Amino acid sequence: MTVFDQTLYNAEMYEDDSVVEFYRSESWSTPELLSLCRSKQAIESGCVLDIGIGAGRTTRVLHGMAKGYVGIDISAKMVAAARKRFPGVDIRQLNLREIHLLSERTFSFVFAPYAVIDVLPHDQRQTLLSAVRNLLSPTGAFVFSTHNLNYRHAHAVPALDPRHPWQTMRSWLNHFASRKHCHTGEGYAILNDCSHSWRALHHYTDRRAQVRDLERAGFAVEAILGLDGRTIGPGDDDTEDWALHFLAR
Ligand SMILES: C[S@@+](CC[C@H](N)C(=O)[O-])C[C@H]1O[C@@H](n2cnc3c(N)ncnc32)[C@H](O)[C@@H]1O
Repeated sequence: MTVFDQTLYNAEMYEDDSVVEFYRSESWSTPELLSLCRSKQAIESGCVLDIGIGAGRTTRVLHGMAKGYVGIDISAKMVAAARKRFPGVDIRQLNLREIHLLSERTFSFVFAPYAVIDVLPHDQRQTLLSAVRNLLSPTGAFVFSTHNLNYRHAHAVPALDPRHPWQTMRSWLNHFASRKHCHTGEGYAILNDCSHSWRALHHYTDRRAQVRDLERAGFAVEAILGLDGRTIGPGDDDTEDWALHFLAR
């Protein structure tokens, strides 16, 4: 019997040309820009590790600001697209669950936008957080986003859209193939969501559990930002935010 590997299951979809095309933009979201401003000193003072860079959306800005830059991505096609766009930049094909192999570098800033760390199953997440802490200098900053378990559509299923029958059928077939791997645990769930026609299995967590896990890995949480850039405090409503941005040190 082969053991299901959620990370590799998710990685497959990033080898599609259409998905590579989808990530060609260079725009930044509001919480990403705010995190960038708040982490300016950490970024400029040393080397940046950019995790899951896709086609290099964030490379130009971070490479330009930092003293050093390493971008990693598991997908050969994404890496090829990013290298073509930024020749000479240190862009490596690497699975994020193997970032401990980068221990030859000390980073002042680690960036993992677009909920990339959520491709990992729950039992590998804490190891990843500890690995990031180990790669960072003592004053280094970690900014990442993650799927929000409190989001009111977190448990959605594909829409039945009679105007797009093929798309609807494809989404449901993908959803049926994925949902047997969905499960929930204390403060988290592995859910199939609409990313890339309902192919992905993502880790969703709530704020309380994420803060606890960051603290366990040796981080202090500086801020949690919603999709509109507001700072989310204890008791605030986050049910409209599909993702939350964490700033930690
Ligand atoms: C949601 S996309 C974001 C791309 C880019 N950071 C951006 O914001 O445009 C996620 C990226 O993470 C990469 N990825 C997925 N699983 C990964 C893994 N296990 N290790 C490293 N990269 C991974 C994918 O290939 C993809 O390029």
